[in-house]
Amino acid sequence: MKHNELAILGGPSVKTGGWPATIIKAKNTEFFLLQALHSGVWSIGSDSRDDTSFERRFAKRFAGLVGAKYCIPTISGTAALKLALLALNIRPNDKVIIPGLTWVACATSVLSVGAIPVLVDIDRGDLCLSLEETEKHLRNGCRAIMLVHLYNSSAQISSFASLAKKYHVPLIEDCAQSIGTKVNGKNVGNFGDIACYSFHQSKELASGEGGAVTTNNKELFDKIELMRSDGMIYSNPDNKYYGNIIGHNMNLSEIHAAILCGQIEEFEKNQTIKEDNASYLKEILSTEGFFTKKQNVADSKTSYFKFVIRIERNRFSSVSLDVVAKALTLELNALVKPIYTPLNHNTLYQPKSYPRICNANYSDIDPASFVLPNAVWSTIRNITLHHNVLLGNKTDLDAILIALLKLEKKADNLSKYTIEAEKAKRVTKFNF
Ligand SMILES: Cc1ncc(COP(=O)(O)O)c(C=O)c1O
Repeated sequence: MKHNELAILGGPSVKTGGWPATIIKAKNTEFFLLQALHSGVWSIGSDSRDDTSFERRFAKRFAGLVGAKYCIPTISGTAALKLALLALNIRPNDKVIIPGLTWVACATSVLSVGAIPVLVDIDRGDLCLSLEETEKHLRNGCRAIMLVHLYNSSAQISSFASLAKKYHVPLIEDCAQSIGTKVNGKNVGNFGDIACYSFHQSKELASGEGGAVTTNNKELFDKIELMRSDGMIYSNPDNKYYGNIIGHNMNLSEIHAAILCGQIEEFEKNQTIKEDNASYLKEILSTEGFFTKKQNVADSKTSYFKFVIRIERNRFSSVSLDVVAKALTLELNALVKPIYTPLNHNTLYQPKSYPRICNANYSDIDPASFVLPNAVWSTIRNITLHHNVLLGNKTDLDAILIALLKLEKKADNLSKYTIEAEKAKRVTKFNF
């Protein structure tokens, strides 16, 4: 083995040891989980459940963490988005603005209520919805905005809140990737009508699967509670059966809520460590001309679901970012990924296969009919590190820069890999 060869070509890795785990082993998680297990109350629908349930405790704690009045835990982030759309009366064939660059659940949740996801281009700086493009679509009659705070971003949230007011449309904030991000001291999720969260395994606050809706509007809260539990109310054990609204079972189980009650205790401590480490990483990367994405100057706190590194054109010769990410993964022993594929090119987004859209004009939904140049451009300019690396020590973080510089120095060797393995699937297709 050549001692200075790239790991992807059989050389030694820059970093051989491990990284802190993605899932935090919070002190009380096991204790709470066993309590839930032995209590015999695993569902919030159990008759022996009372006001001290893990689900109630978590709802209160989470609402406090994100500065919201009300929280309704759900089975997943996708369920939270669906509930938000239903509660806001989004109807079949209504057009809902979503970013062209996001996780596919944003689009599928809109389809799941029979509405039409309108894929709107993003801002190259913060990778979130473009304000100008959004306004154009509002002028054309879109009924709601689903703003995603992608990769920890606060987006231009105050401007979006004003825009939603101007056009009298509801604003849903998808905060799955930005729990704890604040703008001028105010948490994202409190600028619009409803905020949605995910506690999927990959997220900063995780229970395997899980999600939540938060709002500051009592009417919406009451409605979402009923919709979440087959028309029943569980936050008040004395008033369980209500039944004037159709709902679905989207309840978070006591087992998941117990895990979250443990995990949330260490969330803020870890967030501070990640924020400090992100500042250090930004500083050392910038000394060699590597930068992260644009951050809103009004941000007073940033969570880190992902750390985005912007890669300037030709920085690694003409090697695709898929290969760069794979090479870095092997150098660092840490997951490095390109950002999402835009929804107009994303194989996970297949609206034609979904029967509920039969009343709509398919050309309004067809992903190929949306033109998203900024989203496409961004996929060949950004890679991401997962949030657990930001819990490493300074030597771990230094390794990230060392790996990038090693790749840069040996970019020609890397391009041989690209050609030999014919792995440059995505980027060559876009021809920038
Ligand atoms: C931005 C965004 N929205 C929605 C979701 C959906 O959440 P879940 O996977 O919990 O259904 C995710 C999850 O990955 C996400 O990242």
